[in-house]
Order: sequence, then C-alpha cells, then structure tokens
Amino acid sequence: MRRTTARRCTRCDWQAQRRTPEIAGAARRSTHRQAAAAVTRNRVMKSLLLALLMCLPLSAGAQDTTPEALRPSAHFSVYGHGAAATPPMGFNPWNAFRTEVDQARILAVAEFIEQHGLQQAGYRYINIDDGWWLKRGADGRIQIRTSMFPIATVDGGAASFRAWTDKLHAMGFKAGLYTDVGRNACSQAFDRHSPNLPIGTAAEREIGLQGFEAGDLRTMFQDWGFDYLKVDACGLADFGQGSEPVLQSGHQAVRPLIVRRDPVATDRTGVETQYARVGRLLAALNPDEDYVLAICPWGEAGVRDWGGRHGHLWRTSPDIEPTWDSMLVNLDSTVGRELYAGPGRWNDPDMLAVGLGEFDDRHLVNARSHFSLWAVLGAPLLMGFDLTQAPASLIELLSNPEVIAINQDPAGNQASVVVNQGDLQVLVKPLAASGERAVVLFNRGDTATSAQVTPAQLKLADGAPYQARDVWKHQALATQRGALQVRLAPHEAAMFKVAGAPVIGDAKLLTEMTGRIHVAVDGAPDEVSRQSTPGLVPRADLSPSGVPLRIAGQSIPYGLGALANSRFEVRLGKDFRQFSTRVGLQDGARRDAGVVFRVYGDGRLLQEVTAGAGDAQAVPVTVPVDGIDVLELVAIASPQAKAALPPAIVWGDAQLR
Ligand code: GLA
Repeated sequence: MRRTTARRCTRCDWQAQRRTPEIAGAARRSTHRQAAAAVTRNRVMKSLLLALLMCLPLSAGAQDTTPEALRPSAHFSVYGHGAAATPPMGFNPWNAFRTEVDQARILAVAEFIEQHGLQQAGYRYINIDDGWWLKRGADGRIQIRTSMFPIATVDGGAASFRAWTDKLHAMGFKAGLYTDVGRNACSQAFDRHSPNLPIGTAAEREIGLQGFEAGDLRTMFQDWGFDYLKVDACGLADFGQGSEPVLQSGHQAVRPLIVRRDPVATDRTGVETQYARVGRLLAALNPDEDYVLAICPWGEAGVRDWGGRHGHLWRTSPDIEPTWDSMLVNLDSTVGRELYAGPGRWNDPDMLAVGLGEFDDRHLVNARSHFSLWAVLGAPLLMGFDLTQAPASLIELLSNPEVIAINQDPAGNQASVVVNQGDLQVLVKPLAASGERAVVLFNRGDTATSAQVTPAQLKLADGAPYQARDVWKHQALATQRGALQVRLAPHEAAMFKVAGAPVIGDAKLLTEMTGRIHVAVDGAPDEVSRQSTPGLVPRADLSPSGVPLRIAGQSIPYGLGALANSRFEVRLGKDFRQFSTRVGLQDGARRDAGVVFRVYGDGRLLQEVTAGAGDAQAVPVTVPVDGIDVLELVAIASPQAKAALPPAIVWGDAQLR
C-alpha cells in the first residue's frame, strides 16, 4: 500500500537579530539608573534568566538573539480574505471532460445539480477548468474559445464570459475559472494532442498569468464576474529546456521553479512569491470579499506550509485518479496536517473521484469511504464526473446532509488521526458545538476488521454516557459508555456524529479547536535536512514524529507537539479568560540544553518559562487572556543545543477557559 511521507518546509530566518519590544525596553531602562531602580525584582530575575539562556552578555547593549521569525506577530497571519469560511463545494469538469470542456456539457451538469437537490445540499461553485482559452491577443488580452463557449460571443466586441457568469448567478450558483501562475497551462504539457489547445505563435499561446497578472485577473473578476479561480502551476514546472512541450510544440523554454518531487531543486520562495502576488491582486480586485483562490502546485514547493497565507485551498498531492491507491495517496497527503487548516484555508487532496472508476455506483463502499474521509478532513467537495449520467445511489451519497454538515461545520477543524494501526485508521473531527465530534473508523485494507474508538480519543469524559449517530444509516445508536466498536468490511468507513461531556468540563482543549491555530513557524531546519528527516510536522495530540506526547515519563494525552524554534498563532477572538498548559521536552528529545517557552497575548509577553536539560518535569503555565485576540506560543531552543534538529517539545494539556 502506498503512503506518502509528509515533507516539511518553512524556513526560519536565523540571520535576523532584531530586538523584541520587551527586550529593547529592558535595555533602554538599564542605561538610565533611575529607571532601572524601578524595575521590579521579578523583572530582573526574568531578564537574568533569559540572558543566561540566550547566552547574552548582561550589559546595556545586550542584543536579543531571538530570530525574527520567532518574535510575536500580534496577528493571525493567514490569508483572511474571501468567501471560503467553510470548504468550497461544487463541480469541476476536469476529470469528466478534460479539454472537451464545452458550455453545453457544463451547463447540463449545472442544471442537473440544480434539479436534483445537490445545489440545495450545498454544491454552489460551477467551475471551468483547463481548455477554455483561444489565445492571448496582440493587445495582451486573453481570448476565449467561442466555438466551445458560444455564450461568450459579443457582437462587434471582444468575447466575454459575462453572460456565462450571469447565467450561473441567475441559477443561484457561483462561477469558477482556471488559469496558471506561469506562462503556459498543464494541458499544453500533458494534453498536447487535444484539439482545444491555445493557437498561434509561441507568445500567443502563453495564456498563463505570468507577466499579465493584473490585467488577466481584472478581466476575470471585474469584466467577466467570476467568483472562484483555480491557479495551476505547470507553467513553472514543465516547460524547461529540452522538455517535450518546448522541443515539440515550440513553447519558450523557462527555467523551472518547480522540479517535481525534488524540494531541494525547487525554488520554494520563488513559487510562493508568485502565488502571494495573485492573492494580493485578488483581494484588491474583490472588495466585497466574494471570491475563492485555489492554489494548485500539487503539494510541491512547500505549498502545504504556506498555502493558507495566500489563498483558500491548496493542493497537497498529485492529481487524483479513480483508483483506491490514488485516493489513499491523496488522503495521506492531508492527514496529519490538521494544524494548517481552518476557516478560510483548507488542505485540498484534490477533487472527489466519486462517480469514476473504482468509486462508481458499482463500488459504493469505496465511494462512501472516500466521501466520508474528504468530509471529515474538511476537504473541498468538488464533484468531478458527468452528473447527467449519475445513478440515484450516487446522488443520494453525495447529498447526504449529515455528512455534508460535518464537512461544513463552522469551527473548521480538520480531523486528526487518533488510531493508525496497519490498515486501520480512526479520524476525529471536533465540531463547533461543545462535546460534539465526528468520527470516521476506516479500513484501508482488503480484509474485514474490527475497530474501536475510546471516549478519551473522542476527547469525551471517560465513563460518562454519550450519544452516537450513524450518519450513513441515519440512525442513532443506543446510549454509549466506553469504546464505540464497529466491524468494518474491506475498504469500509463507518462515520458517526457523537455528543457527550467534553473531557475537561469547564475548559476547551486547544486541540479541540485546531481551526483557530496557525503554524507560523514549524521549527524544521532548511530544505536539505527536511529531506533526510521525515515527519517533522507539528501535530495535535502527537509529537512531530507521530508518537504520543510524554514529558519526563508522564504521558500527556492532549496538547501540541512540535519542534522547538516554532511559533503558533492562536485566534482567541477575545473569547476566553485564561490559558493554561504544562510545557516540556518530549521524551526521547536530546536534552543537552534548555528550551524557552514564551506565551504572548496580542504581541505582549505574558509569561516565559524554561524547560531545562536533563530530566526536567513539565512546567506549568497559567496566564489570563481576557480581551486578547491573538495568543502566540513560542518555543526557542538554546543556541547551545548540539543537535542539528531542534528538540521536540510539548505544549501539554493546552487549554482555554
Ligand atoms: C493539473 C491539475 C488538474 C487539472 C489539470 C488541467 O494537472 O492538477 O487538477 O486542472 O492540470 O490540465
């Protein structure tokens, strides 16, 4: 069975050595005797300790060596614009029609969606994918292939999609379009024999955004009225010197910024910079915020780390194929990335393959599992087959209101994996209502098996009764106590919504609200070390290597596991009074030097403790957070630490009340 390995990528800027406001303040005070006298004993002790840990000379001119990236931002630094508060739902024609993407076919599907209850179930975006272009005109404007979209013909003027988007809007839909962040599109590399590729000279066939970003985006959003844009990346990857499209189709050669499956050769920053520009332009062009940006570099260039800073969804994997193995590969590219998703930013393991190949109506168990998994992960739900041919069984499956409600839950928490044993996986998604969770118990393999999930894994009080409802059978089970047990057929996923007493009565665990967390800095070192050290992703309730959290021999059931030299931003939105946690080094981490843990509220240092070397116990931290919008959790390894990799740390029992 194929499984992908998570690749890590955020780069810490260890060169930057600017002072934090509080350190700069301390230095200023120490140059003035009178002011220094006013510094409290606590403050002096804290400065001494900090200086010791950061190996600073205790002089007026002491420099804080905290890297810039680990200083508080006082912001929730995600994209924060647009209309993807919940995962986008709709239809994308690529896997159904590829470049034969004509107006009549898409419209027939849209009408079907409207007439068969799917629009009402939540499917709103009707997208056009690759294949709609004719060419780029001499005036630099992009032209539409009107033979496929006659609706775009304008008597005596340039073709326009305005009538198309008007039509979809009148039907109650939103309209989506496709482009590429480079100069050329994927079809020009991989569908080179299609009759519907752009025509003309090499320059006229450069229909991608690069060099034309502002004009193209204005045309698409202001003139044509689109609401959603998928921005692919083949133009940055597949048109290098000596490539087939260059040699055989005469495209201009460009140095690839993306070298597929080679993060070292890939220019991650170059790719991110281009998408960031698109994100900024779209925000400026859409003051009503009614738009969605789908970033599509197929998990390359570290997009899984930065996608949420520039857009609403980002592909975590290669294109889905309608096979069980392909679905699992794409699933694995998103599982474990629960700290990266939340309202307005979604991991995208690609479109639904339901209705195709091994997920068609003869494979309903597979199709239900695929749909359950995408739903619980908070993945976008984009149908991708010719729905006009859809049997009732698939329409019913895709419009299951209970499953869709779990996907669209407003808290936007992505399920995290609580059991990962061979072919068995259990995924739990905390829902917005207190004590409510969705759980999927999933058999990846070809033999039947038994599965269970405990109240502790559901973050419910042990021994207390809880309710469970089978959202596929639409049936409530008898009141449960103890583990919820099921028997799973090959490839089967059982899916339940459960409701009970939360494990900590009066507080909410941070890992019950991962949708409020942004991994600002993940602590992983540069690209080269990431290669040889898989599994560095910060996790909910697990260490970055995927083992349970433990400090000084004591198991810590809940908390954030990360590498030191990391910074989390948590969007409190002034909803809480107090934050508490107990911090320490994960058992097994190298303990040759201490780690400083800092908690900030809206950029102000609230508390700082150190978890020392040796067998130090967990250190408790409790701070008031009344009126605080953004909490930041920073862990900083001593520069004396000898290992190449920062030690694994734990924000144990992190909770808000
Ligand atoms: C890439 C994308 C697909 C689709 C095609 C179109 O492969 O990942 O989703 O858009 O391009 O050519």
